[in-house]
Amino acid sequence: MKAIINGRDVELKTEKTILELAEEMDIEIPTLCHHGGLEPYGACRLCIVEIEKNGRRELDTSCTRYVEDGMKIRTETEEIIEKRKVIAELLLARAPESKKLQKKLEDLGVTETEFTARDYDCVLYCGKCVRACKEEVGIGAINFVGRGYETEVDTPFSIDSDVCIGCGACAEVCPTGAIEVDDEGSTRYIRYFNTTLELKECRECGDFFSTERMIERLKAEEEFSSFAEEYFDLCEKCRRNKEMSKFLEVKQ
Ligand code: SF4
Ligand code: FES
Repeated sequence: MKAIINGRDVELKTEKTILELAEEMDIEIPTLCHHGGLEPYGACRLCIVEIEKNGRRELDTSCTRYVEDGMKIRTETEEIIEKRKVIAELLLARAPESKKLQKKLEDLGVTETEFTARDYDCVLYCGKCVRACKEEVGIGAINFVGRGYETEVDTPFSIDSDVCIGCGACAEVCPTGAIEVDDEGSTRYIRYFNTTLELKECRECGDFFSTERMIERLKAEEEFSSFAEEYFDLCEKCRRNKEMSKFLEVKQ
């Protein structure tokens, strides 16, 4: 398959999205809802590019659109730059106080928005937290709730989740920093989702190192089925100080 991107000829042996191709060629395309470890989503539209094929020209999201034979792709036309700015302003209007988002959008030359700023700290369109919880962790403790402007990401009925394991994957992927994971003593609190979890204390050094639910989940995994109980009672550091065989021997 042959294509042209920003005037450069390319030959592809395998299927890939325009964004993947651009990354390989060190061509920078801004993204917000895209995450390499998650399924393409195509919601924020920050990654739009111009595509020309069979005499037809269109704009499309590079994170979801696959390269096709004979495509001519442009990633930085004046029209694209202007459109991305409008999109960036819309995103900024959703979470105007987010320092993390401000920093990201500054690179696109957007420091303020003409749109009515909302008092949210979540851009919503990205859905990264929801997707990470479902696709990466395989749990789905959070989802979109409400309608229209009132839509937000939350646990069912906005109450302390009984399925969240407190891994913090949602906080890690969030582009606005809306989700914070606070550890205090023996508790982990995920404020955004009003969820509190118990932390496990290392039997050797006394550090609180993981949530109880994360440990329970680990124990249930096939890979860890032959591990002795002691393995799950120790933090990473204390485990490293021991011979790995010790954890396996006990159960055999
Ligand atoms: S909380 Fe963060 S990750 Fe979740 S939808 Fe909002 S901005 Fe995206
Ligand atoms: S990064 Fe492609 S649509 Fe959001």
